[in-house]
Amino acid sequence: MSEWWKTAVVYQVYPRSFADSDGDGIGDLPGITARLDHLAALGVDVLWLSPIYPSPQDDAGYDISDYRDVDPTFGSLADLDRLLAELHARGMKLVMDLVVNHTSDEHPWFAESRSGRAMAKRDWYWWRPPRAGMRAGDPGAEPTNWRSAFSGPAWELDPATGEYYLHIFSRKQPDLNWESPEVREAVYAMMRWWLDRGVDGFRMDVVNFISKDPALPDGHGAGGAFVTGSEHYICGPRIHEFLAEMHREVFAGRDGLLTVGEMPGVTVDEARLFTDPARAELDMVFQFEHVELDQGATKWELRPLRLTDLKASLARWQAGLADVGWNSLYWGNHDQPRAVSRYADDGEHRVRAAKMLATVLHMHRGTPYVYQGEELGMTNAPFAGVEDFRDIESLNHYAEAVAAGEDPEHVLASLRAMGRDNARTPMQWDASEHAGFTTGTPWLAVNPNHVEINAEAARADPGSVFHHYRRLIELRHTLPVVAHGDFTMLLAHDERVYAFTRRLGDIELLVLGNFSGEPVVAELPEPERWRAAELLVGEPADEPLMLRPWEGRVLRA
Ligand code: NOJ
Repeated sequence: MSEWWKTAVVYQVYPRSFADSDGDGIGDLPGITARLDHLAALGVDVLWLSPIYPSPQDDAGYDISDYRDVDPTFGSLADLDRLLAELHARGMKLVMDLVVNHTSDEHPWFAESRSGRAMAKRDWYWWRPPRAGMRAGDPGAEPTNWRSAFSGPAWELDPATGEYYLHIFSRKQPDLNWESPEVREAVYAMMRWWLDRGVDGFRMDVVNFISKDPALPDGHGAGGAFVTGSEHYICGPRIHEFLAEMHREVFAGRDGLLTVGEMPGVTVDEARLFTDPARAELDMVFQFEHVELDQGATKWELRPLRLTDLKASLARWQAGLADVGWNSLYWGNHDQPRAVSRYADDGEHRVRAAKMLATVLHMHRGTPYVYQGEELGMTNAPFAGVEDFRDIESLNHYAEAVAAGEDPEHVLASLRAMGRDNARTPMQWDASEHAGFTTGTPWLAVNPNHVEINAEAARADPGSVFHHYRRLIELRHTLPVVAHGDFTMLLAHDERVYAFTRRLGDIELLVLGNFSGEPVVAELPEPERWRAAELLVGEPADEPLMLRPWEGRVLRA
């Protein structure tokens, strides 16, 4: 049973946007349960469920006010138990989202913490007086110069006690203080409670932020302005100690689980430590390097992606975790724009491009994650104005940037390209009015292209993106080289062709992807060898090393 996840594929469900069973326009648990045959047909092994806990929904459920219940919008604990039972009956597992870097400000822990400086739970969060020599509320009186990931300072003044609390995300997401042993024990007890209920693991939200330098120093490079300060909380001093303790307290002695830590800013060397089985911390992490290559200093500064940068980055991760540790593989999730729009072509060549991206990703070494709708080749949404967006990150950035004098059209262009709502438009089940997502009014508009791009059409079409994903998932289950083979990047300097081999014993695969809208020939060292190879994935071609626009292919020597 151990390391079963090396041959597994995970499917992420974003509950607000997957399937609505009661017509309120918001997806829910019974809606997901009713659609499990879609996942079973795809062949995935695990469902990762984004947060369904009670929440004021300031950050779409990543602000949790009760860790041991289900938000009525999504259903009940009984609905969760049913989903779990139906998944297990189909041989699939359930991984829950664990959000314990912060809680909601409406969580009872925070309510108690904020109610007085002498309260027992005061130190469960990060409270600090104003900067020395300044008065609470004065501009710049925040205890540090850290910026919130959702714009503005990372500190909020609480008038009741005259102190500030830390919130790396929204002001309704105060950071928990993991220095407190009581906080850690409360979190571990909650995790055991979910595992005892039958869930199969956790995806851990920004878990490499939980250990902060307790001195909370100012961030570098300030010049008077606010900066992330993240060098003081990304993989902080006690992070490995905390995760090893969590493993001992929660996971030790339990089998068949999956743990994956979401880790912005993690390095390959750190990731190897986190995922070294001998250290017993996590099974795998989500790293961010490859999804930041088309951005400048912030995610809103767009820059063109160079394929050679993408290849260099992913090859470094493959090499770094080749002997010890394990990779997670992803193009998209609920925080990233749609992969086919971002990395390829969501117009004329959409189907071929979505398949090529899938081929390239799934043939890497690591556990692939499919984000809902990616298996249909769903695209970014045609947002007209700022009123079409719902996400706090986008709305706060727009307000801040426009107030600072940026051209609103320019800001909108970056929201359209990078905004998280692109990934959050409702799942496209069929061609009907709201794409079969809801009978009510969807909380975020359905992409009008659902009349063409939808699950019903995809399942009926043997040449669809959906059936391509099915084939890739089946290959991972049945061909050991896909999960266990070694990895060699080829053509590192080619700006159009992504090429690599995988090898296990005397089995060797060649994976090719054309990241351009022109036909291209892969200039490989041993062309004759590959010309004679068997076509494993892709469309037949007279010349096996020639790729059509955005085409991908796998050959077996
Ligand atoms: C990462 C989550 O994926 C994202 O959606 C959320 O806004 C932040 N963490 C804060 O919880």
